[in-house]
Amino acid sequence: MLHRIKNIAAILAMVLLASTSAYAIENPDTLSQIIQRTGIGDPVAGKEKSAVCQGCHGEDGNSAAGEFPKLAGQWSDYLQKQIREFQNGARVNETMTDMAASVPEFQDIFDIAAYFASQKQMAGTPIEDETTQKLYLEGEKLYTLGNAENGSFRCVKCHGEHGSGQPLNNNLFPVLGGQHKDYLVKQLTEFKHEVRENDRSGMMLRITTHLTDHNIEALATYLSHVPAPVIAPAPPPPPAPVAVPAPIVIPDSWKTLLEEKPVRIEGTSFVTGSAKLKSKVVQALDEVVGFIGQQPDAKLELIGYADITGSAKKNMQLSLERAETVKKYLVKKGVPADRIIARGEGSANPVGDNKTKAGRAKNRRVEIRSTIKVEKKVRAAE
Ligand code: HEC
Ligand code: HEC
Repeated sequence: MLHRIKNIAAILAMVLLASTSAYAIENPDTLSQIIQRTGIGDPVAGKEKSAVCQGCHGEDGNSAAGEFPKLAGQWSDYLQKQIREFQNGARVNETMTDMAASVPEFQDIFDIAAYFASQKQMAGTPIEDETTQKLYLEGEKLYTLGNAENGSFRCVKCHGEHGSGQPLNNNLFPVLGGQHKDYLVKQLTEFKHEVRENDRSGMMLRITTHLTDHNIEALATYLSHVPAPVIAPAPPPPPAPVAVPAPIVIPDSWKTLLEEKPVRIEGTSFVTGSAKLKSKVVQALDEVVGFIGQQPDAKLELIGYADITGSAKKNMQLSLERAETVKKYLVKKGVPADRIIARGEGSANPVGDNKTKAGRAKNRRVEIRSTIKVEKKVRAAE
């Protein structure tokens, strides 16, 4: 028991030290999630003991190169299992077999796993182009719905929403969301061809047999671009007295909306003279979808703007079209249309200098505002 308390204190120290930590530590639910992830090891001792591992896996477990898996925010039990299996030959990789042999003591494995597990959760990279976005959507579909035609199983059943793993007390299934694409492709291919065989009861072998190389590419593209960390909507409170807390990490855009400030989908997101959206804004918009899912009372106001180029009439129309494009995207993602108002304001209210190119880009934008507080105030006044 004493040992356990010491470790919890160590985790707290670790989280407080990590200034870039994505965890809201004032949220006790999130803290219990980190403790759960971290397991029985001592993360402070683990930081020192993992110095050699950090060379490839990154100082905080968020490795830079795609061939070295990210370990940050991964379940400690899963990490321990892998290290032990590299040691006993159940999982084979030349580099890692040597590395794992350098940490023979159980306590060292516990501590190292605890250190990486307690670090800032691995996160996907933004989508760079149209091709990636197409593959991302294809992968997301396969991940969530499977493919009834060839019997592909739904990954989401075991690996959780967006590959964030399962809730507390179920750490058999590794976190996949935000992992490197190259690494994911390699693992899926190796499961398929029975090169990697350390999955319990051949679970991953049976799943990957059905996958084509293109399927694998799509799944890995999706998982490596998942906007993280873990935007999991809280489940409805269960009737049982022991409620399991859901991890909630609030994206900045939600805070912005709650403070009644606009989220700006800016300039470079739109082609000049056009209402067409560039793919890189998808992450911002998906966060807004998440916000609406969390806030049943919130409505959205989308206000489109244009820069000063072109006639006033054309700009009015263009700004409305831009707001409508954003609306269309949100509706496609499941936001009820009656919770969105879209309008255009032409080149009014510039936020950038219309004399410069950068300024005009800033002015070609859509502002997303939430009316949640206003409504609450009205209700309170009633
Ligand atoms: C020289 C580079 C290098 C070093 C140093 C290194 N690793 Fe690795 N590690 C790898 C590679 C490459 C893989 C992927 C192996 C594969 O493809 O199966 C890996 C995989 C792993 C995995 C499996 C991750 C997963 O998601 O399944 C764990 C756990 C791990 N390493 C832990 C460690 C630990 C602990 C140390 C330090 C004792 C360490 N590594 C040092 C290169 C390295
Ligand atoms: C029936 C449950 C189950 C389903 C469904 C499932 N997996 Fe897995 N998966 C596992 C388990 C268990 C492991 C861990 C194997 C181990 O312990 O080494 C795993 C491991 C993995 C890994 C290795 C992660 C790493 O860090 O090395 C990848 C990648 C993966 N799964 C992807 C997928 C994808 C993609 C799908 C859907 C096509 C999927 N899984 C469906 C159970 C499942």
